[in-house]
Amino acid sequence: MERVRGAGAVLAVLVVLGAPPAAGEELSGVFQWMGKQECHFINGTEQVRFLERHFYNREQLLHFDSDVGVYVGDTPFGEIQARDYNSHREYLKYKRGQVDTYCRYNYKLGTPFSVERRVPPSVSISLVLSSSQPGPGRLLCSGMDFYPAPVQVRWFQDGQELPEHVVATDVVPNGDWTYQVLVLLEIPPRRGVTYSCQVEHVSLEHPLSRHWEMPPDTVRSKILVGVGGFVLGLVFLALGLGFYLWEKSS
Ligand SMILES: *[C@@H]1O[C@H](CO)[C@@H](O)[C@H](O)[C@H]1NC(C)=O
Repeated sequence: MERVRGAGAVLAVLVVLGAPPAAGEELSGVFQWMGKQECHFINGTEQVRFLERHFYNREQLLHFDSDVGVYVGDTPFGEIQARDYNSHREYLKYKRGQVDTYCRYNYKLGTPFSVERRVPPSVSISLVLSSSQPGPGRLLCSGMDFYPAPVQVRWFQDGQELPEHVVATDVVPNGDWTYQVLVLLEIPPRRGVTYSCQVEHVSLEHPLSRHWEMPPDTVRSKILVGVGGFVLGLVFLALGLGFYLWEKSS
């Protein structure tokens, strides 16, 4: 069941200033009226609730809830206003119709770029080295720039799922209608093992997998081979020399 909450346009924000304030001068007062219209969609347009809220200086005065069908005051002054709104039968009929004329109407307009918006994640594995604890580091799987938010990320080791030693961040909104998530494998990677990160998302037909293996440590292995060969050479040289001298003296 999807639940989409669409806030309607702010009707008006009125800020009354005594005079244009000069630098360092105090405002004589701020008086703010604000209206919010919200459409709550449960299971698409199966169940829709229209909510209109009126505020004065951040305090909610009254509201109209389509589940109730009349204005209801939230403060003594709001009650007076609610009574006035409710006395206009035609206006109430119009408000009750806004679940259709406003909410359902806008749902249809907005669906292609909101409800049906799909952006697949880009997935990558990186080795993060810790400055405080030396060692082989840890593997981090990044799922970037996907929409909508629900996502599943799993780590595998040679095809076997690793349900433990896995920590994930919350799914973080980037603020541009995309999300990201980072999933860390808490155990150090071992040589000769293949690690896979698998991501499932509604935008993907099949789960997306990335694989990682410890790269051969080329520089160190070359040094080891070189040093090993040199030592072996020295041993043979010494043996040969020993035999030669021993033969010569006997
Ligand atoms: C959602 O709405 C559809 C019809 O649009 C209905 O068939 C389905 O049962 C509803 N699902 C839930 C969970 O209410």
